[in-house]
Amino acid sequence: MGIYNIVLIGFMGTGKSSCGKLLAQRLHWEFVEMDKYIEQIAGLSIPDIFAMRGEPHFRDLETQACRALAKKYHAVISSGGGVVTRNENVQILRSFAYLILLTAPPAEIYRRIMQDGKEKRPLLAKANPMQEIERLLAIREPLYYNAADIRFDTSGKDPDTIVSEILQNLPKHVEIM
Ligand code: S3P
Repeated sequence: MGIYNIVLIGFMGTGKSSCGKLLAQRLHWEFVEMDKYIEQIAGLSIPDIFAMRGEPHFRDLETQACRALAKKYHAVISSGGGVVTRNENVQILRSFAYLILLTAPPAEIYRRIMQDGKEKRPLLAKANPMQEIERLLAIREPLYYNAADIRFDTSGKDPDTIVSEILQNLPKHVEIM
């Protein structure tokens, strides 16, 4: 059976958004950022959803977004780093998309997030974000690896190089035309 969508999964700061945007451009597919989609349904920014409604509410919205996006055709979807923490989300995503995992070492994740501004990531708005990255990665790594169809290490590579690697390795059942 053919698969008509791609979801990028991986920890915060692994390049899901920048690579997703570029991959969608190269395939002439739609690009969807799951966090932006959630912000639209909630009418609030991600940090505000966490602050005003709490993480469990955010996770419910994330599951709702996975279900809604299952209707897409030829979309590259960049997911939030915590989407794999609910097995239900993984099942939904795997039902309609090819799951690509992007990885990076903790030090590189830390550097990229600090460049972006850690206030955009409520989970890392802590006294010691590096410790929190390592703690969350230890919990999530097996979840990412189990969910993914394929994985790419992004360390020291620019989005252009990563997207070329992805395109060279797409299996035939991902129907790009
Ligand atoms: C989260 C990652 C964020 C966002 C939210 C929670 C997580 O997305 O969904 O802050 O649990 O790892 P990015 O991975 O795009 O930063």
